[in-house]
Amino acid sequence: MVKILSVVGARPQFVKLAPVAHAMVGRAEHIVVHTGQHYDELMSDVFFRDLGIPAPDVNLAIGSGNHGAQTGAMLEGIEEVLLERRPDWVLVYGDTNSTLAAAVAAIKLHIPVAHLEAGLRSFNRRMPEEHNRVLTDHASDLLLAPTAVAAAHLSNEGLAEKTVVVGDVMTDVLTGVRDRVAGDPLPDLVSEGDYYVATIHRPDNTDDADHLRGIVDGLAALDKPVLLLAHPRLVHTAERLGVALEGGSLQTRAPLAYPQLVRAVMGAAGVITDSGGLQKEAFLLRTPATTVRPETEWVETVDLGWNVLVAPERDAIVEAVHRPAPHATEETPYGDGSAAVRVVDELLARS
Ligand code: UD1
Repeated sequence: MVKILSVVGARPQFVKLAPVAHAMVGRAEHIVVHTGQHYDELMSDVFFRDLGIPAPDVNLAIGSGNHGAQTGAMLEGIEEVLLERRPDWVLVYGDTNSTLAAAVAAIKLHIPVAHLEAGLRSFNRRMPEEHNRVLTDHASDLLLAPTAVAAAHLSNEGLAEKTVVVGDVMTDVLTGVRDRVAGDPLPDLVSEGDYYVATIHRPDNTDDADHLRGIVDGLAALDKPVLLLAHPRLVHTAERLGVALEGGSLQTRAPLAYPQLVRAVMGAAGVITDSGGLQKEAFLLRTPATTVRPETEWVETVDLGWNVLVAPERDAIVEAVHRPAPHATEETPYGDGSAAVRVVDELLARS
């Protein structure tokens, strides 16, 4: 049987791993390596449990650190695992430091690398994810692109021959979970359609006191309660910068597990975020999104009118969130929910 080794480490990668791990069953020997980039119960274990992903075969427990130290420690750890397991393919996901470390470890050992979610670009070199994705795409042997726009970026960079559009695996997961949680209760103290969900975790927003204050003031001034599901980075930096994560409409809560997050977004009047995944999930659930970033990789959500980009400033946020509802759409730019099966097909066809 073909041996495929997946490397994951951060929260959005566990979500992407879920449908891929299910699609591998009976078709390939699948080894899962967790770098330990995310390690809190709510940032890691809960995703494996809720999404029915088997426990990782290896957990490198690298933890947090500066980019170089963290990526370097992962590189060393992953190399050892690859030398021991000798897979036919290494599959890497998205754009975190775990993605780049795995791609580099594999190419140095001449093991073919496939990059899932290839070709996304923000063209913003301040984002650590942008370095990770560009470098990983150029290192990889097979580029599994989620959308036609992503494939066009790869083509512009001379990578068309290695590219296949498979669709978006997060759409696969969401489609299943949405139906499962539709009748579940909402988060405490909110009622259907009468609250917003917010997440903020990008360094450009959390680590700059003016940006963070602008965002918090904007959320506090909204016309309905705002559930701010706080990533640990946000909690740590807000405390360090002396910015209170409360006041007005703003209520800060712990991050939600994936099914509860999906349910909360389904019932919300809107989502305010800087997360790539959540912008897209909001669109798929037809909840309007406001993205606190200068650009987005998921341009389809903006083009179809369901996502608006705003600066980290109070009035801009309030105006964008209070905008009129977008027009209904039947477009499916992210595929039909069977991307993971295509991922496995493509890997097996090349083994
Ligand atoms: C990482 C990814 C980002 C992804 C995000 C999803 C990189 C460069 N960034 O960002 O692309 O969108 O994950 O969440 O790979 N921390 C904890 N507990 C944890 C994990 C982190 O307390 O389980 C805290 C630590 O203080 C850590 C900080 O959060 O220093 C940032 O974690 P890190 O993994 O470095 O980056 P993220 O901001 O989570």
